[in-house]
Amino acid sequence: MSIKILFENIDVDGIDSFEVYRKLGGYNSVEKALKNMSPEDIVEEVKKSGLRGRGGAGFPTGMKWSFIDKAPGKSHYLIYNADESEPGTFKDRHLMQYNPHLLIEGLILSCYAIRSNTSYIYIRGELMYVMRILEKAIEEAYANGFLGKNILGTDFSLDIYCHPGAAAYICGEETGLIESLEGKRGNPRLKPPFPALNGLFGFPTIINNVETLATVPWIINNGGEQYAKIGIGKSTGTKLISACGHINKPGVYEIELGLSVEEFIYSDEYCGGIKNGKKLKAVVAGGSSVPILPAELILKTAKGEPRLLSYESLSEGGFETGTMLGSGGFIVMDEDTSIVKNLLTFTRFYRHESCGQCSPCREGTAWMEKILNRIVEGKGNEKDIDLLMDIANNIEGNTICPLGDAAAWPVQSAIKHFRDEFLIKPEIV
Ligand SMILES: Cc1cc2nc3c(=O)[nH]c(=O)nc-3n(C[C@H](O)[C@H](O)[C@H](O)COP(=O)(O)O)c2cc1C
Repeated sequence: MSIKILFENIDVDGIDSFEVYRKLGGYNSVEKALKNMSPEDIVEEVKKSGLRGRGGAGFPTGMKWSFIDKAPGKSHYLIYNADESEPGTFKDRHLMQYNPHLLIEGLILSCYAIRSNTSYIYIRGELMYVMRILEKAIEEAYANGFLGKNILGTDFSLDIYCHPGAAAYICGEETGLIESLEGKRGNPRLKPPFPALNGLFGFPTIINNVETLATVPWIINNGGEQYAKIGIGKSTGTKLISACGHINKPGVYEIELGLSVEEFIYSDEYCGGIKNGKKLKAVVAGGSSVPILPAELILKTAKGEPRLLSYESLSEGGFETGTMLGSGGFIVMDEDTSIVKNLLTFTRFYRHESCGQCSPCREGTAWMEKILNRIVEGKGNEKDIDLLMDIANNIEGNTICPLGDAAAWPVQSAIKHFRDEFLIKPEIV
């Protein structure tokens, strides 16, 4: 049984209430931080921990916080990115639904670290029932003096507001999210300027993923160095993996980074093997956006080393033979899965969710969907595969935000690893 940081108390009865959460040591990190630590100390501990953003890109959290414009007199905002709309990813929902106070505790510490007195939780619109759970927890935190004016008698004050999105994947992209929060259409902004200098309402803003900030209380309670001892290399700590597809035990698992993919898929502690004794065909390891890998490359790198659930191991071999940890949405496909039909589903999603600002993404995703439809209907040919690859290559890197890349990588990797399947007759597809 590996160490649990985020899920330690998740199964405790009543953990979503302030009373039970507090009895088990909840909010101790806030007392420790506000009474004995400066904001800089918190940033320093998080830097020492090596914690990397769990929203997908894996950017070091402490470093991101240190970029915030510290000019006196300026408001600072912290936004909790709870939009979670990537197909295959459902870890943040689990955490928010079952342990909401952990999120609020992490939020208080993070706001203190970046000197923010106002924070927004931007939550996916479909998760209204989860927002109600969060709102109740926020109310309890106010009632017990952990939110509001002069928290625990210090001069630190903090207000938190929940804001539901309207079910648009693009609003999970940090600048699309900011636009949406400002009441506009969620079109991503050109960067620079980065939000840490010019974000919400033109003020310095930090945007972090739910899982990222929920990790901060443990770091403050136990120290950054202790956290850095967990995991492997630069992939420190634990990671929530939402596992789905053709496995015996789909669900959300907290793993220590560095666990082998093989153990994750086949051991009873995690996915419990492939359903109905079938063979593993492919895995999308980090949410629909990351390159798909065939069984042989997800279990072992091209160098023949065991593939591990870590930022470095999953990306070993670049996009030729590797993939990404991404948001931790682990989609397992058995031998009967049609890679092309699956790709069509993903591509339809990206076409639907493209905001339409950039022509390569707007036109390219629609064009790819059209070609894939043709192929699935059995009317495709060799030229269609080359055209698909060409369109994907022209989207990649040519858009304001990474939604374009997210649409291109599944196409490129499916063609690279499963080209033969694109021209199989439809009855087999
Ligand atoms: C199209 C798109 C959707 C995204 N959706 C989410 C999301 O739902 N949740 C999230 O935390 N990050 C999402 N991201 C990444 C965010 O832009 C941002 O990098 C992240 O919230 C930063 O938090 P972190 O540093 O804690 O990972 C998305 C990015 C893109 C391009």
